[in-house]
Amino acid sequence: MKVRFENVSLNYDKQKEVLHNLNFEIPNGKLTCLLGPSGCGKSTTLNLISGLLLPSAGKIYFDKQDVTKKDALDRRVGMVFQNYALYPHMTVLENICFPLKMAKVKKKDQLKRAQELAKLVHISNELDKHPGELSGGQQQRVAIARSLAKSPSILLLDEPLSNLDARLRVEMRDEIRKIQVATGVTTVFVTHDQDEAMHIADKIMILDTGEVQQYTTPNKIYDRPSNLFVAKFIGNPEVNVIPLADLKSEFASFIPNDILKNAVSLIVRPESIVSADSTQKLLPVNFQGKLLSASRFGKETAVRMNFQGETILATAILQEKLEQKSESIHFRLKTTGVFLSDQAGKIIWSADGERIVNDD
Ligand SMILES: Nc1ncnc2c1ncn2[C@@H]1O[C@H](COP(=O)(O)OP(=O)(O)O)[C@@H](O)[C@H]1O
Ligand SMILES: [Mg+2]
Repeated sequence: MKVRFENVSLNYDKQKEVLHNLNFEIPNGKLTCLLGPSGCGKSTTLNLISGLLLPSAGKIYFDKQDVTKKDALDRRVGMVFQNYALYPHMTVLENICFPLKMAKVKKKDQLKRAQELAKLVHISNELDKHPGELSGGQQQRVAIARSLAKSPSILLLDEPLSNLDARLRVEMRDEIRKIQVATGVTTVFVTHDQDEAMHIADKIMILDTGEVQQYTTPNKIYDRPSNLFVAKFIGNPEVNVIPLADLKSEFASFIPNDILKNAVSLIVRPESIVSADSTQKLLPVNFQGKLLSASRFGKETAVRMNFQGETILATAILQEKLEQKSESIHFRLKTTGVFLSDQAGKIIWSADGERIVNDD
């Protein structure tokens, strides 16, 4: 099922509008991530989809049906929260059956459905236990099974993995993706973790200050951020942002003048800075920086250097280039992960040479 927001705004109280005129469509049968920093309006957006909140203005559609005034029960959504919210006095089996019991489904059918779901989320051996006897990951599996019990029209997950340790988060993330693909249920997954969103989503909607910053596939967001906020938010370590003023003449040979005259910052991903003698596809400019520090972290070396009065970080300069103990580093930029932004922070040029269009 598709979800469409049409000019949706929300304010909790009269003074402060939290979401401003949102217009978007969540595709049927896919997993869409709502991603953004804490307080940007992710849970608020999710609760508008579920019907726990009603918009202050605008309309919400499920497929062609206007559900703006329908409450949560009528919308047939499944929800999973960060804190599992299982009933502690019920067994796992009773927890999964609970929504079916409320819907007066026959006992025999309840059990059949619960066993099917337990198998899907790999908790078939825990059905007689109480939530308190399960690990965090297992509890979250139960919560997911319960949310799917009534075959919801849409599954909504609000930071479902935030309480789990790092390894389990990755495992459960992949598990949720598998379950989503297996059931084909339209899913909206809220997270503040860009890495999680990049791994799990078909499409990512990046929210900040109650507005959609960009809404497209994970790789397109990485390769073509629409503005400085998105460029900084996606990718770890963060992009370097370098004032362009003193560098303009060096870029003049290959960047159209009308773009260059509006460009204010050079934005470079740390992995796009390479040694000057690299044989990769490079921009036709040579730069020189002063080495500040180089530290190796397993497979990566973080090289910090002073460039144009800024400290910049490079992660793809090979260790052997640094062993010559020279203070200056000659480097060049790759043709991916390099952008120019204007005064307002909009990205107006990308080094991979295609026209900048953010049409989706
Ligand atoms: N029930 C509420 N009453 C008033 N303000 C709220 C309420 N819930 C959230 N807010 C405010 O709305 C903004 C967005 O909150 P929320 O959607 O929870 O953000 P996120 O889930 O992205 O962290 C925040 O500024 C928050 O303080
Ligand atoms: Mg939230």
